[in-house]
Amino acid sequence: MDLDELRRAPLFATVDDDAFSTLTDQLTEVELSRGKSIFHEGEEGDELYFITSGKIKLGRATPDGRENLLAVLGPGEIFGEMALFNPAPRTATATAVSETVLAGLKHENLKKVIHQAPEVSVQLLRALAQRLSRTNESLADLVFSDVPGRVAKALLDLADRFGRPAPDGVLVAHELTQEELAQLVGASRETVNKALAEFVQRGWLRLEARAVVILDIQRIRQRSR
Ligand code: CMP
Repeated sequence: MDLDELRRAPLFATVDDDAFSTLTDQLTEVELSRGKSIFHEGEEGDELYFITSGKIKLGRATPDGRENLLAVLGPGEIFGEMALFNPAPRTATATAVSETVLAGLKHENLKKVIHQAPEVSVQLLRALAQRLSRTNESLADLVFSDVPGRVAKALLDLADRFGRPAPDGVLVAHELTQEELAQLVGASRETVNKALAEFVQRGWLRLEARAVVILDIQRIRQRSR
């Protein structure tokens, strides 16, 4: 596997070659096609994963059998690290939403690297703090924002991370179905559909297969507040 990308990730950029080779000792490369899971909620696990390419959704089953998405992560992001700090079964199921390549790193190796290069733990804390702050925000939105507002916000967040300039706006190839988008914003598919249709009708966006083109980002931003 090409380790350059891993080497350049903010998490590992400052570690020396020795620490880096400890980390990548027993590294496994995993290729997943859309819909395939690397692990399931409730399983034991001793590896974390770095996303080399593609996208991963992290989902939890609700007691009545529906699914709720905690996040959609892309290249350069890691997941599956929680058990390293808080020994417990996997807190979510990780599933590819497009062709995805992962690098699996042993928890034990990361633990050793943290001792060799403590600055890695600062980067990890930073990633966890960002995740907590995003989660806090989603929680507040569930209470205070309506569904169109939450859809607008989710699209902006996806645009921030996966958006690319297009001739008429920003192309966001989020790779999610409308059902998955609904699971991400915590609403029914019908309500999310209606919100998207309204945005389209107002000329704020265009829908494509598992993607949107945001045509008027200002309006979408206003609607997200
Ligand atoms: P772990 O519990 O090992 O397996 C599921 C993973 O999902 C977890 O580690 C985290 O990496 C990730 N995860 C859990 N909750 C969130 C969240 N709210 N936002 C983003 N990622 C999460």
